[in-house]
Amino acid sequence: MAERELARLAGILSRANDAYHREDAPILSDAEFDALRQRNAAIEARFPQLVRDDSPSAFLGAAPAEGFGKIRHARRMLSLSNAFTEEDVTDFVAGIRRFLNLGPDRPLALTAEPKIDGLSLSLRYENGRLLHAATRGDGETGEDVTANVRTMAEIPQSLAGAPTILEVRGEVYMSHADFAALNTRQAENGAKIFANPRNAAAGSLRQLDPEITRARPLRFFAYAWGETSAPLADTQSGAIARLRALGFPTNPLFCRCDTVPELLATYAGIEAQRASLGYDIDGVVYKLDDLAYQDRLGLRSTTPRWAIAHKFPAELAWTQLEGIDIQVGRTGALSPVARLKPVTVGGVVVSNATLHNEDYIAGRDSRGTPIREGRDIRVGDWVQVYRAGDVIPKIRDLDPARRPDTAIPWQMPDHCPECGSPAIREPGDSVRRCTGGMICPAQAVERLKHFVSRAAFDIEGLGAKQVESFWRDGWIASPRDIFTLKERFGPGQPRQLKNREGWGEKSAQNLFDAIDEKRRIPLARLIFALGIRHVGETSGGMLATHYGSWDAFRSAMSDAQDSESAAYAELISIDGVGPVMAQSLLTSFQAEAAEIDALAAMLDIQPAEARATDSPVAGKTVVFTGTLERMTRAEAKARAEALGAKVAGSVSAKTDLLIAGPGAGSKAKKAADLGVEVIDEDQWLALIGAS
Ligand code: IVH
Repeated sequence: MAERELARLAGILSRANDAYHREDAPILSDAEFDALRQRNAAIEARFPQLVRDDSPSAFLGAAPAEGFGKIRHARRMLSLSNAFTEEDVTDFVAGIRRFLNLGPDRPLALTAEPKIDGLSLSLRYENGRLLHAATRGDGETGEDVTANVRTMAEIPQSLAGAPTILEVRGEVYMSHADFAALNTRQAENGAKIFANPRNAAAGSLRQLDPEITRARPLRFFAYAWGETSAPLADTQSGAIARLRALGFPTNPLFCRCDTVPELLATYAGIEAQRASLGYDIDGVVYKLDDLAYQDRLGLRSTTPRWAIAHKFPAELAWTQLEGIDIQVGRTGALSPVARLKPVTVGGVVVSNATLHNEDYIAGRDSRGTPIREGRDIRVGDWVQVYRAGDVIPKIRDLDPARRPDTAIPWQMPDHCPECGSPAIREPGDSVRRCTGGMICPAQAVERLKHFVSRAAFDIEGLGAKQVESFWRDGWIASPRDIFTLKERFGPGQPRQLKNREGWGEKSAQNLFDAIDEKRRIPLARLIFALGIRHVGETSGGMLATHYGSWDAFRSAMSDAQDSESAAYAELISIDGVGPVMAQSLLTSFQAEAAEIDALAAMLDIQPAEARATDSPVAGKTVVFTGTLERMTRAEAKARAEALGAKVAGSVSAKTDLLIAGPGAGSKAKKAADLGVEVIDEDQWLALIGAS
């Protein structure tokens, strides 16, 4: 009995640990996790002879895997935006036509191919030899997994007839058969059981012993590329054919489609084969075939405009709702979380799901329109759970016939469960928020977790778990305390980090070094890290690009406190910044000026790079008005931004250049009044070297 229970706990805890640390998608609450960990420790203490080789006690609380070098990708590794319906696909293609100004009669070829459910990999070849291999990481920097990749039979070590520099990108995956065989072997050896082929592939590639990778049958499909010293082809399909000729496996279902109905028929065909492919896929990826068009469309912040992933419908399961917990987020939002009787959905055990907000539970949307025909969700109900891709599971519906007689309507608390402050729902807001601000422990700790998260400070060895434990012991109360940890708990201090449970001399020193390394921080990351409501990664980037330096941004935040000021007008003129975000920024900078300034003083904040400093329009603020004849407004704007210009919606004293087409009206007049230079579309194209 005890032995079986230890095996079960090892499985759950390792899955939960992976979900938390690697996938940022917890499958257990912290309380559940701690309870299971304690149960495991108690059984191990009682039956020491049964302690497993892969005992969770050995890996829990350990510092994250050290030892992978970092590789900066020569070109960002992108992600894809998603389409869920046929309408989304139609809109995607129509959007491309609009952007390129292609009438409905002009041909527009696309490609379709399965979206492989694995992990992406970038392979860099120079002079025909594999130089290094890196995981995606945050898209800019990945982990160096070269030694492991050299053991993968499907990946060519050398190439004949390739461009001198060639980065090949694709997906590493494990077949169903290999996954099942691996888990059988693991079970026989009392080793870790993987939850699904994707985790098995990731776990096999992202570990430090190449001999382990060699023993695991990892496979690869090439579907994209990064830097190349010479173009591979003129089209996506040509480039894929070239990669195949060079020796890379490419997906046999890849095909070209000329119309939306053809795309949808291909999607249906691939979906019909899904179960018999022998590996996991979670949708179909469509890409524009013509690479010159791809180039013109360019990128949003992290996704190309010329590709989209058409996802398969989410997987579903029924289970019972055992309770509703309230989680308090970093902005004070009270989020109801469903506690479920554990159920497997698409290969992953789910015991929590989001319930969004109180309206959702009551059976209405944010406008008061009934959802689920107005049925409310009650504790005790049988509910339908689904997962769409990697995201947190959700609840779609409930079965009214199976509702227990005792089930009563659920009520959102009107006080914060963490700090007891009143929780208020403002008109127009769909969520109730704790009013405790930084006195609320949940908000404080969530803000710290956000601060160290991957897209923010991303300090190696300081993840959510560590921050929580430092916070609990009063070592870190606010972000700036992170940067004084060494002074307070470093060598020579009465209390030292190296003596804490789970830490040692080396890991403590590594953490201090990692913190020091991150004092040098790009402006965009810092703005995002501050955790201001409505200011996400993209907005952080836009604000940084607009203001350039911390000093400029910081003074704007003071000057703009007056809503009549020029600074305020400038702030809301930034593309993507509306009055709501502006207000949120200004409120935070007013309320937390001292904290923010103290933090900034400890950092070396890197000014935002104008994206292309050698272009004649880099750093210039430009405005388009009137009709453009040679490209659409969207394309003009995207191109200008790609050259490092800021595109504003209205003319002000900050405007450097107005590009006026026929029909220009008040903006041209205002520019003339302000003495702003005005040019026409041809002059603009000549200026940027595109005529
Ligand atoms: S193309 C634009 N093609 O999906 C180029 N991605 O959600 C970037 N993926 O990070 C990706 N199969 O890891 C592309 N056939 C496919 C893919 C694919 C799987 C993954 C890839 C990417 C993620 C985006």
